[in-house]
Amino acid sequence: MKVTGISCSPRDAATARAIRLTLQRLQEKFDANTRFHSLRGKEIRGCIHCNYCLTQGNGCSITDDMGPIYDDLSWCEVLVLGTPVYNGTLSSQAKALIDRTRAMVATNKYAFKGKLGVALAVGGDRNGGQEIALHAIIDFFIINHISPIGGGAFGGNFGITFWSKDRGASGIDDDVEGLRSLRRVLREVDKRYRQRHKPKEQD
Ligand SMILES: Cc1cc2nc3c(=O)[nH]c(=O)nc-3n(C[C@H](O)[C@H](O)[C@H](O)COP(=O)(O)O)c2cc1C
Repeated sequence: MKVTGISCSPRDAATARAIRLTLQRLQEKFDANTRFHSLRGKEIRGCIHCNYCLTQGNGCSITDDMGPIYDDLSWCEVLVLGTPVYNGTLSSQAKALIDRTRAMVATNKYAFKGKLGVALAVGGDRNGGQEIALHAIIDFFIINHISPIGGGAFGGNFGITFWSKDRGASGIDDDVEGLRSLRRVLREVDKRYRQRHKPKEQD
């Protein structure tokens, strides 16, 4: 299982901790091969709608820190995309990254097809907009033919949500419900991944 996890926070704090924990669990439990990106200190400019990607068919006209992220977005089978909640929705870093994937689908509209997607959101408040942020990520998954994985009917319904209480990484470690949502979603990732890779029955 090849997994790319991206923390779309400008800090190395709660969201990065939650993504690292998710990747660590996937490594330990499912022997996943993981790659991690943090947008902290990275220059990820917003899409300028120059249409270079459409007219030239040669990636993005902007030269910044997206390069290695494009590589690992292509490489992965499972994408874990995490954002802190800012004003009830995605961080601007998350939105910029999502919009810049247009350069990938401009040349191949099925560039993401077949991948599994896990949305993760971390809010400072208990109900600060985590689900709205999750849905913005899930919309991106749907538009790009990524199958969103939720935890099912009894926890982590739409993805992984944490309440950091604005305490950075330690807020993640102490959030029992958030950790539960993480476990439930990863269980479903494992099931879906296994279903897809089930050996074909011999005649
Ligand atoms: C500009 C800004 C807006 C924020 N808006 C919200 C919000 O609407 N809801 C919420 O629950 N937390 C909000 N927060 C708090 C962060 O979501 C919270 O501290 C989160 O854990 C930050 O993630 P990080 O530690 O990975 O940077 C906001 C923080 C900032 C900086």
